[in-house]
Amino acid sequence: MKKIIILFIGLFLFTCNSESAFNKEKYLNEGKEIAQSTGKTLSGHVKKAMQEKGPIEAINFCKLSAYPLTDSLSKLYNVKISRVAIKSRNPENKATGEDIETIKKYEEQIVKGEEIKPQVQRQEDKIVFYAPIRLQHACLVCHGKPQSEIPDTLFKHIQSLYPNDLAVNFKEGDLRGIWKLEFGEKK
Ligand code: HEC
Repeated sequence: MKKIIILFIGLFLFTCNSESAFNKEKYLNEGKEIAQSTGKTLSGHVKKAMQEKGPIEAINFCKLSAYPLTDSLSKLYNVKISRVAIKSRNPENKATGEDIETIKKYEEQIVKGEEIKPQVQRQEDKIVFYAPIRLQHACLVCHGKPQSEIPDTLFKHIQSLYPNDLAVNFKEGDLRGIWKLEFGEKK
């Protein structure tokens, strides 16, 4: 009998310390909310700048750090907000480690015609949220084919700002990159 009780206590402690212990649903919901509102602000400003000032000026609105909203959401949720890619424009947004695995998995799923969904995982002392970013028609002017889709002067300007740019030659529907939200504190 004693052995059985010890076994149960052991099992209970094991379960509490394992992956299932953190509230995935909560992080998933928070992550979706943060990625969505940050994305909306970003694309809203880029679109407006494109219409009013043209793509060269709009480039200045493509950084998450340009928005006070990113800063305030980071503080509110104790989270680091970023967009990362294997083929990145800004080297600061380069995917590493688990990011690369996640991007590759999403790409495989796209090839298979499967639905690609946001996800949450534990990475050491952090909880990391990932969500796919697909390329839309409106993105081609800055991430499509140089010359035919990206006008020459714009392409030259992008190259002068980002000499290591890898974020060209994308097609509509491609995985452009992923949202990466790193939650600092366990809740
Ligand atoms: C006006 C030009 C322009 C348009 C339009 C544009 N982008 Fe970008 N994009 C950029 C620039 C410039 C950067 C680099 C920002 C930085 O320095 O962090 C970038 C960076 C990114 C990144 C971060 C990873 C990286 O490559 O550095 C993602 C993801 C991204 N863009 C997705 C999109 C998507 C999706 C669209 C369409 C909805 C889009 N972009 C439209 C210019 C553009």
